[in-house]
Parts: sequence; C-alpha cells; structure tokens
Amino acid sequence: MGIQIKDIETGNATIMIGEQGQPITDVQKDQAFNSLEKSGALLLRGFDVDLGSFSEFVGKMCSKVTLDPARTFFESNVQKVDAGTAPVGLHTENSNTPFPPDLVFFYCRKAASNGSQTTLCDGQVVWRFLSDDTRSLFRDHQLRISRNISEPHWKEYVAFETEGLNSADEVTMEHFEAFRHRVPNQKIELQDDMSIFYSLDAPGARKSLVSKQWAFANSIMGPSYNYEKPLITFDNDQAISDEILEEIRVVTEAVTKEVQWQDGDVVMIDNTRVMHGRREITDTNRELFIGLGYL
Ligand SMILES: [Fe+2]
Repeated sequence: MGIQIKDIETGNATIMIGEQGQPITDVQKDQAFNSLEKSGALLLRGFDVDLGSFSEFVGKMCSKVTLDPARTFFESNVQKVDAGTAPVGLHTENSNTPFPPDLVFFYCRKAASNGSQTTLCDGQVVWRFLSDDTRSLFRDHQLRISRNISEPHWKEYVAFETEGLNSADEVTMEHFEAFRHRVPNQKIELQDDMSIFYSLDAPGARKSLVSKQWAFANSIMGPSYNYEKPLITFDNDQAISDEILEEIRVVTEAVTKEVQWQDGDVVMIDNTRVMHGRREITDTNRELFIGLGYL
C-alpha cells in the first residue's frame, strides 16, 4: 500500500494521505521528516488511527516523548487539548518553560462541525517578512521570560522533570536545587510563601532543528492558562516596543493559515519553527489530543 504525498498547502502543512484502512504507523520517519523540513508542518489524513496508534506514531517520530498521549488521557486526562473555548494566540508549545519540545502532534478524534480551527504560522516565512532591524534584535538577543509560580505548580513541574519522582508531594529542596542547576539560563528565587520567581532566557528566533533555517518562533503572542502570564522582554531587560509588537502582529496574521480538521486527522509540527494557536471553539464536541517529544 502506498502513501500519497500531496504538494498542496493546507495551513502551512503538506498533506500526506493514507489509503483507506492504512495504519498511521506505516508512515516512515524519513518520509515524515522530508515533508516537515519543507513545510514545517504535516497533515496526515485518511489513515487508520486511534489514541493507541497515535501514541505509537508519536513514539516512532521522537527519540524521547515527554508525555504519552494515551496514558495521560486514560490516567489523568490532562493532555486533552481544550483549555477553555476562547481563541488562543500563536505560540510554540511550552516555550516559556526550560525544556520546550521539538515536535508537537495533534490528533483530532472528533472534528468540530464549525469553527475551532487550529492556526499555523510558519516562523520561517515570518522571518523573511520582518524588517532588518527587528530581525537583528531577535538574532542578537534572547527573550527574558519572568513570572511567579505557586508552590503546587512548581513542585508538580519539578516532579514531572525529575526522573524517579511520581508526584509533587515527593519533591524535596534537594530536587529543587538539582533542577535549578540543570538550567543555567534561568534564575530562580524562592519566596517567603514558597512560591518561586523565575526568569528564563530563551530564543525568540532560532534556526529550526529540522530545516536549519532561521525562524521567528516564540510565545510572545501566546496564552498562559496554567500559570501567571509572564513578563517578556529582551535579555537586556529592554521592553519589546509597541511598534515591534505591531509589526509582529501584522506579519504573523498575514501568513497564518487554518487547519480545517476532519475526523482522524493528525498534524505534526516542527515546534522550533512553526507557531500554532486556535480560533474560538464553537462546537464543544470536538476532541483533540496532543503529543510532545524531542528529535
Ligand atoms: Fe499549544
């Protein structure tokens, strides 16, 4: 059985179409990455897929998975994507945290009857349209992301990122110190109320790990559901000016495309290059799952 690769742009994605009944796990890693290198995102349509085979597919494409979509759904449901129904601004996944994933996967088990499209914005295209001055700023400076995180939230995060720990209750100050030392580009201050204030330096633009080309990829315009909204400046503490924010808004809006989900669609995204977001959810029956991993 063959896999058809259509050179049609939907969103910024190349469409890879499976023959009827063909398992999604038939897709080979080099096939997927050839398309990902070209387009930054890949839409896999018409394959036979369920939560189990989606999970297997994510595992096949990544050297390390940061969360198993099947497990998290069945055990805690935390990674079913649907944080509210409001539109979500463009962002790269978890890029305001120390270990953002390189790859993001979505599986649409049930498509919405209307609205609720996922948005895709190719940071490589954005990069070409930005002014020379803005490109220089983002090439010369990283972003500085600062915010306060409550004790339960940081303990949960440290537990998740520390091998051998299963829950926030097990996190000790030694784990906290070990975590702190793992991230040299981050400053963390423990507060009297046991919350932390952290400031993390992370790129706002970078060379994609897949295409090796410069891309504007960050979460300046993104949401913050689980944590306090961060303050984002350049790494010399200079504010990102209103003019630059407006330029970014205009350019990203002009190149943003939508994924019109169909049941069983899977999308694979280069998270070091392509930003994603969401239009307003107008049909809450939609079911979307996320998988995250590293190259
Ligand atoms: Fe996201």
